[in-house]
Amino acid sequence: MSMFHQSQLLDFWRGVVDPLGIGMPEAIAAEIASYTGENPEQVLLKMEKGTEDFKQLWTSRQVDVGDAADVERFYRDQFVEAYELANWHCGRTNGTPPLNYAFAALLARHDGLSRVLDFGSGIGTGSIGLASVGCEVHSADIADQLLDFVGHRMSKRGYQARLVRLSRGQKPVSGYYDLITCFDVLEHVPDQRAKLAELEGYLRYGGILVVNLMYDSTHADRPMHISSAGSPLKLVRQTGFKPDWRGFSFDRQLLVRTRTARLSNQIARFVDDKAAGMTCSL
Ligand SMILES: C[S@@+](CC[C@H](N)C(=O)[O-])C[C@H]1O[C@@H](n2cnc3c(N)ncnc32)[C@H](O)[C@@H]1O
Repeated sequence: MSMFHQSQLLDFWRGVVDPLGIGMPEAIAAEIASYTGENPEQVLLKMEKGTEDFKQLWTSRQVDVGDAADVERFYRDQFVEAYELANWHCGRTNGTPPLNYAFAALLARHDGLSRVLDFGSGIGTGSIGLASVGCEVHSADIADQLLDFVGHRMSKRGYQARLVRLSRGQKPVSGYYDLITCFDVLEHVPDQRAKLAELEGYLRYGGILVVNLMYDSTHADRPMHISSAGSPLKLVRQTGFKPDWRGFSFDRQLLVRTRTARLSNQIARFVDDKAAGMTCSL
């Protein structure tokens, strides 16, 4: 059972995307238009073609998916993804908008979590949502042009933008954050376990990571999904996180960094391996 009702999450998200009530697609298109100088109608059309355009860009670049640096270079200087993300955030891609950030923001308010790292912040709608509940948000991304837009959006909304430009070697602060959000990002990196270990180091002990680990991320329209998590629980057992069962589901995982999690995960893996061995020999 989720901690928050779906309708509560949707209301929250709608308020973030469309504070003036002009319609979510129109609101987000107007924000992009005011930044790029395009007209909003043009932006709405580009949003509609966003998934296809982003796929084509990926295909034309022939990215070497085994080379993390080459993958990161692909994201660094493009803005095409902004239109794809805008279309998704306003609910036009899947018929309903993503609600993970709404969940994280309501969780932050509920648990009194204030220092937040939005890792892979995209166009910053989630960063805005987290800032709107009073969090100090650090928005980190490899995509420099998207980060510029995040800075623009945050300031226009009256929030301080704290941008972490990963492509320029900037890093989030170690052991600092109460909460990290990492939504729809890990399938874009070659080594998910290594990235989880990196995120762990940015959290204080007791801090929470909210992430969506995809069992199988392969998708015909998204060739840039280059890795899959497999079993979320199995992956988590290779880290220093333990599940927070209030929000651990198949679609979204709530994980806590604790001092003892790494050891207890090792023990759990040992027990699992033993049990698997016994099953095989029966
Ligand atoms: C599908 S978007 C999701 C954006 C945002 N989290 C959201 O849910 O709207 C994936 C994001 O991950 C970023 N990204 C890809 N590889 C990354 C990496 N190695 N480190 C940090 N961000 C990365 C991309 O630039 C993009 O902004």
